[in-house]
Amino acid sequence: MSNIEQTLSIIKPDAVERNLQDQIKNEFKNNGFEILKEKKIHISKEEAEKFYKVHESKPFYNDLCAYLSSGPIVVMSLQKDNAVLENRKFMGATNPKDAEEGTLRKKYGISIDKNSVHGSDSVENAKIELDFFFKD
Ligand code: CDP
Ligand code: MG
Repeated sequence: MSNIEQTLSIIKPDAVERNLQDQIKNEFKNNGFEILKEKKIHISKEEAEKFYKVHESKPFYNDLCAYLSSGPIVVMSLQKDNAVLENRKFMGATNPKDAEEGTLRKKYGISIDKNSVHGSDSVENAKIELDFFFKD
């Protein structure tokens, strides 16, 4: 049975800075993800703080929000069968050092903070995160 979902993907500043956005978009397309919506934006620190509010209490929260707002990002709505889980698998582990061969973070990630991509971690959060960037 098919289970078409949508999830939020972000190409983070380290990847946009290295001009990897087209390559990463092609990776998604070649792996069966349809890019329904996309935009290149540069968010403020306050917006990043809102987006990552779930990490508020973490020691890395301030650096994380400073980083996500440090340069342009590409936000995308991806659609696929089981898109949320499929995207998490395709991204690989948070720390590129631990990411499996063939995953985006293994290929493009630089470090645990500059790990090139974000992906929603549940269907519920995907809805919240898609609304955050695409609700108008
Ligand atoms: O992005 P993911 O869901 O894999 O990881 P997370 O635990 O939700 O953390 C969000 C982001 O915070 C990560 O993608 C990392 O960029 C960053 N982070 C960090 O800088 N240092 C850590 N020890 C853990 C996460
Ligand atoms: Mg997460």
